[in-house]
Amino acid sequence: MTDNRPVGVFDSGIGGLTVLREIWNAVPDESTVYFGDNSRAPYGTKSRSTVIRYSLQNMKFLESKDVKMIVVACNTASAYAYDELKARAGVPVVEVVTPGADEACRATKNGRIGIIATKGTISTGVYRAAVERRAGELGMKDIEIFQQACPLFVSLAEEGWWDNEITRLTACEYLKPLKEAGIDTLVMACTHYPLLSKVIGEVMGRDVTLVNTGVATAKVVKSLLETEGIASGADGHGPVREFYTSDEPGLFEQVAAPFLGEGLPSGTKHFTTDRYEVTI
Ligand code: DGL
Repeated sequence: MTDNRPVGVFDSGIGGLTVLREIWNAVPDESTVYFGDNSRAPYGTKSRSTVIRYSLQNMKFLESKDVKMIVVACNTASAYAYDELKARAGVPVVEVVTPGADEACRATKNGRIGIIATKGTISTGVYRAAVERRAGELGMKDIEIFQQACPLFVSLAEEGWWDNEITRLTACEYLKPLKEAGIDTLVMACTHYPLLSKVIGEVMGRDVTLVNTGVATAKVVKSLLETEGIASGADGHGPVREFYTSDEPGLFEQVAAPFLGEGLPSGTKHFTTDRYEVTI
């Protein structure tokens, strides 16, 4: 069985493009529709009810594009809104928390796992719970989890300061407690952070494994497309890659380009999802 409808992906803005590019790597034949809610970003500082409402509205938009799967390519939206999205979706929903937690549990040797994310994601405790649950399923004992919010990393990534002195100093300050805690695995639980992985890796040292939740999530997308029997089949046209933003398309493409690496966005259209009525 095959299904050539696109995979829908949404994020608060451009960070989810780091997940999208991993999806493209993992399943290059799949068409995708990406929605970046740039005009309402960031989500990481918003309240739970606001993030849930935004996420449900974004899902309605993707459903209107007849997607076969929805990927919540935002850690904050995954942490706050996954249960609501899953309960209301007519298609499979993939979030980024569980894949990251799974990867971290498999990577750690000393059982000391660090999690860095936005304030919103950390405050939900969802990552901690996901790592504990996965560790339990894998029969791991004595897992210790250390969390740190790194809100400035989002701005540094958007500014393009991926490898400079200010980023290094900021990283040293944020990551100090995690270094002192002796973690051997660090989950970059925010879509922007993989862009800073060079500096984060250097500050943490080579003995610490960095987990990119985008890579882990793309593996889940691939396997779910297969197990659900909804992977695309050859139709002679190749994949279609659409982009929508709730802010200005030109600006989106300019800021998005470095996040996406290859396959720069073009033909981005404007759409706002606040027109959708949702009840929470
Ligand atoms: N996409 C968000 C996340 O992964 C980071 C940016 C924001 O706060 O909206 O948590």
